[in-house]
Amino acid sequence: MSGSVLFERRDDVAIVTLNRPEVLNAIDASMRSELPVAITAAERDPVVRAIILTGAGDRAFSAGADIKEFGAYTSLTETRAARQGRRWNDVLESTTKPTIAAIHGFCLGGGLEIALACDLRVASHESFFALPEVKLGIIPGAGGTQRLPRIVGLGHALRLILSGERIDASAALQIGLVSELVTRAELMPTALAWASKFAAAAPLALAYAKEAVRRGLDLPLDEGLKVENDLATLLLGTDDRAEGAAAFRDRRKPVYRGR
Ligand code: CAA
Repeated sequence: MSGSVLFERRDDVAIVTLNRPEVLNAIDASMRSELPVAITAAERDPVVRAIILTGAGDRAFSAGADIKEFGAYTSLTETRAARQGRRWNDVLESTTKPTIAAIHGFCLGGGLEIALACDLRVASHESFFALPEVKLGIIPGAGGTQRLPRIVGLGHALRLILSGERIDASAALQIGLVSELVTRAELMPTALAWASKFAAAAPLALAYAKEAVRRGLDLPLDEGLKVENDLATLLLGTDDRAEGAAAFRDRRKPVYRGR
């Protein structure tokens, strides 16, 4: 590990930090390979109930792919290997645990694509968002063209992707790109509060709810409803489902074990 991604566990929350603040957390090859390792570590740790992603330093979540690496690959096979590395966001999106992007400052290009693969985005008032790829002669290639319209709708997504324009935090809130705006000082406490809220719920229920929503989005309604029904049925036999009902009856907090 080169240290371009930091992993910290705070009680039942994993905090994953993009850590190249001197270049606004630009995503280089080492960050691309270390991010899935950190996410997989959080996924496999039974104590972890939620994952927060954030950027080191005071200026950026991430200013996107490291542009200084562009053109570094001299053959098509090297380029192909590097591009396959860009599926790192799939690992993030497919984790069964809730993921929260805590965004401050620039959130551009590949940086925004990381945030788009998270379940929830909270941002400081001093944040800026863009997919500026077309200005560099490329297109968003780490999920941006697919995930952005699913989150903000076709019109807003096309406007942002075709213009490459940068929007500020209040515009991002307005189009639903982020869920909540807070001060810089409140950013991590807010993300941690969301994480605790998620951590209090039954882990399998969270995982299945996430699977139902994400898989269902790609299916016709009827098939999506079948997926929902199958997953809901599976949960009926879990200890946590019995615990949830028992805790309600006993007027106490449930203790969920993820089984
Ligand atoms: N790649 C590499 N280095 C970057 C970078 C990036 N994406 N963004 C910023 N940096 C570096 C700068 O080169 C600078 O380092 P040096 O002092 O060593 O030159 C340092 O970070 C600070 O940046 P600036 O001096 O540029 O700071 P600024 O306040 O003047 O400007 C900015 C900030 C507007 C974000 C500007 O840095 C910028 O436009 N960055 C590029 C943003 C961009 O186009 N991102 C999309 C990349 S493409 C992509 O992400 C798609 C993909 O996945 C393939």
